[in-house]
Amino acid sequence: MSAPDSQPPRGALDDADIDRWATQATAAIAAAQSTAELKAVRLSHDGPKSPLALANRALGGLAPELRRAAGARVGAARSRVNIALTKRQDELQAVELAQRLSAERVDVTLPAELAPLGQPHPISALMERLGDVFVAMGWEIAEGPELEAAWMNFDALNMGPHHPARATSDTLFVDPVEHNLVMRTHTSPVQIRSLLSRPLPIYIVCPGQVYRADEFDATHVPVFHQIEGLVVDRGITMGHLKGALDHLAQAMFGAVSTRIRPSYFPFTEPSAEIDLECFVCHGASVLDPDAPCRTCASEGWIEWGGCGVVNPRVLAACGVDAEVYSGFAFGMGVERTLMFRNAATDMRDMVEGDIRFSRALKGEAR
Ligand code: DAH
Repeated sequence: MSAPDSQPPRGALDDADIDRWATQATAAIAAAQSTAELKAVRLSHDGPKSPLALANRALGGLAPELRRAAGARVGAARSRVNIALTKRQDELQAVELAQRLSAERVDVTLPAELAPLGQPHPISALMERLGDVFVAMGWEIAEGPELEAAWMNFDALNMGPHHPARATSDTLFVDPVEHNLVMRTHTSPVQIRSLLSRPLPIYIVCPGQVYRADEFDATHVPVFHQIEGLVVDRGITMGHLKGALDHLAQAMFGAVSTRIRPSYFPFTEPSAEIDLECFVCHGASVLDPDAPCRTCASEGWIEWGGCGVVNPRVLAACGVDAEVYSGFAFGMGVERTLMFRNAATDMRDMVEGDIRFSRALKGEAR
């Protein structure tokens, strides 16, 4: 990229000078190896201070008889330079584009960097898994609203107005109070909705979210999950209940002993708790006072959920003939089930959203 060798004289314009400047310019243009170099060449050979531009300006000072021919020569020289500039600019741009395209080429055979995939929360995954155990036996998944009529949540389940579960300390009532709406405190109202809306016989499970005005600590969260089961058919007995629960226990925990222990729920009669053999001491702590078990408080069993034979009053409240039909029901906590399956000890981990917890329990997802 050579600089032009001289400036035009003030008084006259020499034809040979004009030709030389043009020749120097086209040589410099041809020698430019990049668009950046060409830019500098353009400035020195075609810019406002270049000899040809100055010569152009000097035309005004020439005697009129000289001006015409000199003007034609300067004009021709400048247009030669401009044509050369445009041509070189196009060439260099094409070369640079080709270089960029080949440098930036994507190698599609390189291993891809995979973004981490999301996964269902362990509770959601476990609810699916629980549901699948029953769907595999031909039962149906039933759903109900989380904002529930108090009648569905309590009255129809034989929980009279003075039942302790109705106390404001447990139940989240929703304004305006006279509308008698609550955040459902359990999934049992889905029993009522199913009895009212489905043809008999009924074989349903309802995994879902429930609400209680509870503490937030290692064993309580105010919003948690239950799975409810309901069977209503002819000739259903407590034996069917035990069989269904044993099947569920095995699907969830493998070979584990269960027991049902008398209890009380207003919507079942008789009622029971279903207990699982302690995973830690397997009952040994009951016989050995020197080896107490913290998991089962040396009881040998841990409580899993409630169950029983559907109270005929519930069937009657839903218009089902309790002389012809009978049923069983059960309900247990999904968080508790997750704890037992994974030796998780703190329920707060399940709601705090720390991805490390979900990752550690990703086996729940399928
Ligand atoms: N709804 C009860 C609760 O939240 C659990 C329960 C107990 C459900 C017995 C049932 C049952 O279906 O039969 O504590």
